[in-house]
Amino acid sequence: MRTFATMSPTDPRVLAAHGDPALLLRQLGRCPVHVADDGSYVVARPDDVDDVLGRPSATISFVPDPGDAISGMQALMARFSDGEDHRRRRALTEEVIAWIDPGRVRSASGACVDAALGGGGTIDLAPLARRVPVEVLAEALGLDDVPTVVQAIDLLCRRLAPMLGPVTRPDDATVCEALTAAFGLLDESAVALVAVLFQAMDATAALIAQMLVSPHAPALVLTNRVTVAAMRIGGADLRAGARIVIALGAATAASGCDRSFGRSVHRCPGEALARAIADGFVDAVRASGRTLADGAEDLTWETRPNLRLPAALHLR
Ligand code: HEM
Repeated sequence: MRTFATMSPTDPRVLAAHGDPALLLRQLGRCPVHVADDGSYVVARPDDVDDVLGRPSATISFVPDPGDAISGMQALMARFSDGEDHRRRRALTEEVIAWIDPGRVRSASGACVDAALGGGGTIDLAPLARRVPVEVLAEALGLDDVPTVVQAIDLLCRRLAPMLGPVTRPDDATVCEALTAAFGLLDESAVALVAVLFQAMDATAALIAQMLVSPHAPALVLTNRVTVAAMRIGGADLRAGARIVIALGAATAASGCDRSFGRSVHRCPGEALARAIADGFVDAVRASGRTLADGAEDLTWETRPNLRLPAALHLR
């Protein structure tokens, strides 16, 4: 099997921070399974992506760090669980999501944007696009102290966000304290609530940015799995015990068929809510008659391997 350098355009991890990765993603979506130089397999063709996401032996295999309470809590989230634990935790998550009316969060999202734009002057939409999804979901769920909830989820996202290169993260104790203040005892049910808000924050901000500045470049670039048994994908033999980088964005770009919300058992259960919140947000921005200061090429993108998030998105 061919081996590519880790930072080559055939490694999706470099593409999230690219001004206009649409062409590179389309090319990557035609590449067969290959190996990056850190030993991870890169799976990018649409059929290969669908195949690997449906394989029970391509697992999340998340291992919490015993010295880190936040990673212990992360291990209780459906997104980071496998097998029977995943089924139970996903059901709890779906219960939380079923409580929320997409129409209500759509109009609440638009109202938040109207309020933020009311003051006039240039405004940075990037922090607003992270805050609004969590704020409207927390309100729709009837949570008591929405600002405390938003602050706790922001800290959690900053602690756990994958980043290429050095980054300053809030420490374990600060995040634990904020989560306990917002949600109380973090048992499996409370974690399901945290997980919904955690998954919503950065991903929905990326979707909003995609809709506003780069509709042809998927917001969600990749996800990961680990092979617990050898398997054959797209004619390639993958050994057991290896990491797989699954290029959802490339598969979307190459096929025109949206895989931004994943496939199979971990498929995003929040798609309808995410789209409602993003639509409400973007419609309100457009209705304001204001314009973005920069196009996709001129923006600085966060160095995240998995999501495309602009560091700032100024509206004037
Ligand atoms: C209201 C906003 C959102 C909520 C509540 C939400 C919730 C969730 C949850 C709970 C999971 C874990 C599911 C599981 O493991 O069984 C998940 C997975 C996922 N979400 Fe979302 N999400 C939201 C927004 C988004 C957006 C905007 C995107 C894409 C741009 C997205 C893409 C994904 C993907 C790809 C996965 C599966 C990851 C994998 O298979 O490894 N989500 N989401």
